[in-house]
Amino acid sequence: MDKFVIHGPTRLEGTVAAAAAKNAVLPILAACLLTEEPCTIRDVPLLEDVRTMARLLRSLGVKVEQRKHTIKIEAAGKIERTATYDIVRKMRASYYVLGPLLGRFGDARVSLPGGCAIGPRPVDLHLKGIAALGANVNLEHGYIHATGRLRGGSMLLEGTSGPSVGATANTMMAAVLADGETVIQGAACEPEVSDLGGFLTAMGARIEGCGTPAVRIRGVKKLRGAEYRPIPDRIEAGTLAVAAAITRGNLEVTGCEPAHLASVIDPLRRAGVTVETGRRKMTVNAERRPTPVNIATSPYPGFATDLQAQFTALLAIGDGTSVVTENVFESRFLHALELNRMGAKIDINGRTAVVQGVPSLAGAQVMASDLRASAALVLAGLAAKGETEIQRIYHLDRGYESLEQKLNGVGAKIERVSY
Ligand code: EPZ
Repeated sequence: MDKFVIHGPTRLEGTVAAAAAKNAVLPILAACLLTEEPCTIRDVPLLEDVRTMARLLRSLGVKVEQRKHTIKIEAAGKIERTATYDIVRKMRASYYVLGPLLGRFGDARVSLPGGCAIGPRPVDLHLKGIAALGANVNLEHGYIHATGRLRGGSMLLEGTSGPSVGATANTMMAAVLADGETVIQGAACEPEVSDLGGFLTAMGARIEGCGTPAVRIRGVKKLRGAEYRPIPDRIEAGTLAVAAAITRGNLEVTGCEPAHLASVIDPLRRAGVTVETGRRKMTVNAERRPTPVNIATSPYPGFATDLQAQFTALLAIGDGTSVVTENVFESRFLHALELNRMGAKIDINGRTAVVQGVPSLAGAQVMASDLRASAALVLAGLAAKGETEIQRIYHLDRGYESLEQKLNGVGAKIERVSY
């Protein structure tokens, strides 16, 4: 295993580039199952989750060739229909093969994902989506087995926490080859869902309304291979922006789409950080402790739950008290307990964290619990005085490509140590 040793505090300055969006790439790779023709996906970030998806596709008999940031996928010949527990338990996004396998072959067996550090993550909406398309859905020995020739259908895909990114994407992938028209109401509007729509359209699917709560799909008989470049990673770009703010630095973040980042740029500005946006870039400049701001996560275009942990780390050194409310996941505050070990003063009460800003954090040994919690600890480590040691950074490697190299390139002092 690897850990990070961070020597702080440091001030970040310079230019750093965000990669393509992990959460767009994963469903797009799964969508390649919908055609026997070859697909080429470019600019793919080199992440553990991408490697896991490639492993899953290979386990189904799909040809996957990767050369640096380009992946070529060909789902021709005999394709297996089962995503095994061994792979799904490592990565929930393995669930994305359900829709394409069912849509193309009328048969998919996908292991139910297990528990998750950020709270219960049910799959009822995924199943509701495919059931509305006429699939027979059974739970067999820990596996969801879905079968049947799909036909278009109408459904409302919202749960108590709002729309579901995964269920919307899965249902779209199942519906593109179904007979007739499908209408998904309560669809997730995240840019990554729209990007999947862009890829499916490039394959010949007929989809309208991506990026709105009502997605309309007219099924086609066959899809063709396509070449695609996924959108930039708004969560990585947001993480880098917060890194500039927490270190009172000055960073130009390139390769990002500022229009996707409005919900984080606005609270950064309210916190006293200067953010200027340009074409595919933004500059972030901070000169003092952040002014307290309250944030509440919600589905896009609201404040992204995937940036909550990082922003909480920033508010931990705020000049006053901020309130952070997590509305998307039930228990996504494990990072707060670790931040408190670094001297932060954060009280958790259910879905709310009251963050009493302190002048500075102190380096400590801490443990990463999930991907974004790990990023929050890295940011805290950059700002903290002394040495911060972060264990279990395999969580971080799932979703950030060489984050330490990117940050070291703009002034951070982070060592990756194997232990
Ligand atoms: C996606 O997860 C992302 N993952 C997550 O990113 C992100 O946090 C999340 O969307 C919300 O933006 C990928 O794209 C691979 P959801 P997903 O279904 O699709 C409830 C990261 O750090 N729900 O939109 O699993 C669910 O419990 C990760 O990169 C149901 O109730 O999230 C949650 O409260 C972590 N029933 C809410 O909906 C369902 O069937 C939103 O979850 C499905 C979800």
